Amino acid sequence: MKYITTPIYYVNDVPHIGHAYTTILADFLKRFYDISGEETFFITGTDEHGQKIEQSAKAKGKTPLEYATQISQTFRNLWDEFGIQYDHFIRTTDDKHILAVQKAFALMKEKGDIYKGEYVGQYCISCESFFTASQLIDGNACPDCGKATQTIKEESYFFALSKYQDKLLQWYQTNPILPAYRQNEVIRFVENGLNDLSITRTTFEWGIPIPNASQTDSKHIIYVWLDALMNYLSGLGYGGDESKMPFWQHSIHLVGKDILRFHAVYWPCFLLSLGLPLPQKILAHGWWLSEGRKMSKSIGNVIDPQGVSETFGNDVLRYFLLREIPFGQDGDFSISGLIQRINADLSNDLGNLVNRVIGMSEKYFNLSLQAQHPNATFAQEDKQIHTFIQSALQRIPTASFHLFLEDVWKIFALCNEMISHYEPWKLMKNQQEHKAMELLVFLSNAILKGTLLFSAVMPKTSQRIADIFNTKIDSHLFDKLINSQSYLENLALNKSDPLFPRIQQEEKEVQQETQTPQAKQYIKIDDFLVSDLRIGEVLECCNVEGSTKLLCFKIDLGEEKPRQILSGIAQYYQPQDLIGTQVCVVANLKPVKLMGHISEGMILSAKDGDGLKLIIPQGKKQNGSQIG
Ligand code: ME8
Ligand code: MG
Repeated sequence: MKYITTPIYYVNDVPHIGHAYTTILADFLKRFYDISGEETFFITGTDEHGQKIEQSAKAKGKTPLEYATQISQTFRNLWDEFGIQYDHFIRTTDDKHILAVQKAFALMKEKGDIYKGEYVGQYCISCESFFTASQLIDGNACPDCGKATQTIKEESYFFALSKYQDKLLQWYQTNPILPAYRQNEVIRFVENGLNDLSITRTTFEWGIPIPNASQTDSKHIIYVWLDALMNYLSGLGYGGDESKMPFWQHSIHLVGKDILRFHAVYWPCFLLSLGLPLPQKILAHGWWLSEGRKMSKSIGNVIDPQGVSETFGNDVLRYFLLREIPFGQDGDFSISGLIQRINADLSNDLGNLVNRVIGMSEKYFNLSLQAQHPNATFAQEDKQIHTFIQSALQRIPTASFHLFLEDVWKIFALCNEMISHYEPWKLMKNQQEHKAMELLVFLSNAILKGTLLFSAVMPKTSQRIADIFNTKIDSHLFDKLINSQSYLENLALNKSDPLFPRIQQEEKEVQQETQTPQAKQYIKIDDFLVSDLRIGEVLECCNVEGSTKLLCFKIDLGEEKPRQILSGIAQYYQPQDLIGTQVCVVANLKPVKLMGHISEGMILSAKDGDGLKLIIPQGKKQNGSQIG
């Protein structure tokens, strides 16, 4: 059993790429566990109470409920359009949810974990979060989002968070939070000591009233985070029809790193108070940035997921989101990055492979293939493929989804290598038709194995590929080809249009709100790492005949032979002064000829009004050491 959840999104904003990311990740896990034969339950929904929503509704001249209903529907419509297979869409304004929250509040109070007091401190309405003065940035700004906080002083019920500190720290020993570096942050936070948490507000109205309130208490509404977190239980029927509650023990919460504290600290304390099992896993992902900054409506750098999906296809969007950044880290959403992925991974590695297999099967065997035990003939490749598969499967529980896809793509790379290596066209010429047939059966199966694995990422594409091989992507086929490592021995292929036509960069323009003028052109670390920068030692250095600018170097980069590099620094250095100096070299430049001499790299220097200086390491490093 697996219970998969997304955060429930605030209804003060329309969905953007960030929301789509979390929801697509959750949908991926749901589909992946489904096809592997697990029973799953997946919920998403909207977080509709609180001061922020009350204010946004007011600004739009609507009642909070009217406003929430409208935006909640835009989320739901988008997920439906995206084919998100949620089993339940929860709204915190649902009656069942409200009753569940009140029941939980009453139970916590009975347990002695709730007491009345007065809250004095700072509040960030945007994050719906309390802070002490010492946590603020520059006196008043929220440490999480940077917006101004307001001082509040009001009667409040508190939850005795401090009571659970030790139990929490014990729980972290079971490694419930991924990635591990995020868990370590949480542990440090808790070790610093927990303050009891204010869990009711009295100065506005849009929230769930506390249960069984006396007249003087009727002004108390439940803190929106207690209300919201409870969705994970109320969505399973907690306090009502509890037939889905057995899923609770198997919960996987997907969240952004912005709300990890609520999920990894407050939520387990509430659960401990209620006497319920703690979450199985909390998977905290990083942020999608746009132009190097977190997407936000006020900056105007929000990327509309619907636009991207319509332009490139929903499967492509899903693939890109999962493949592009390691789970947990931030990444820049760029259309050029997306196009590169389409052209390289999807069109080239996968699409062309499928096309070639169809083409050869048609040309040589009229689209009809049979071979017994094709894996016996290609035993070594069979073993490799199943090693990739085992590795891929192990990436799921560790939330290394980009590596999961990398492993799957190793299967396709191997298939492409097999075609170049065995050259089926030659086999056909040399009367080895049988082997050519076996090869095509083997490749078809390998493609299907990879396709089964990525089917949870690209459901539509995987079914298109299954159609080509006249089969169906389901848990039955998964069991046969993946779990039992078996092969289909008879295949009748269907022809198909190219799966992923290549895209020219300028062909596609995706609607994106105007960028701020100061937005900087950022590159990704991968772009930087394209340069191979190394430390090298000057062995020889001399003037170049006929040139007043160039010096000719022989540089030891730790390679077999020293490199010859020409550099235009003759006006700034005497050749003999440089011998024995270590310099920084760009080592993967294409060799060029300067004044008739070959130059195999570039030496780094910096120039300003005072002339030029070489960039040299601050202490001695081994020749050939990489810089980065
Ligand atoms: O926090 N990159 O709702 P919310 C990646 N209602 N993910 C992003 C993102 C970005 N730039 N921006 C948003 C709330 N997200 C509460 C949750 S749960 C009991 C209550 C995603 O509308 C990410 O999952 O502010 C983040 O945690 C969530 O949206 C926040 O959504
Ligand atoms: Mg938010």
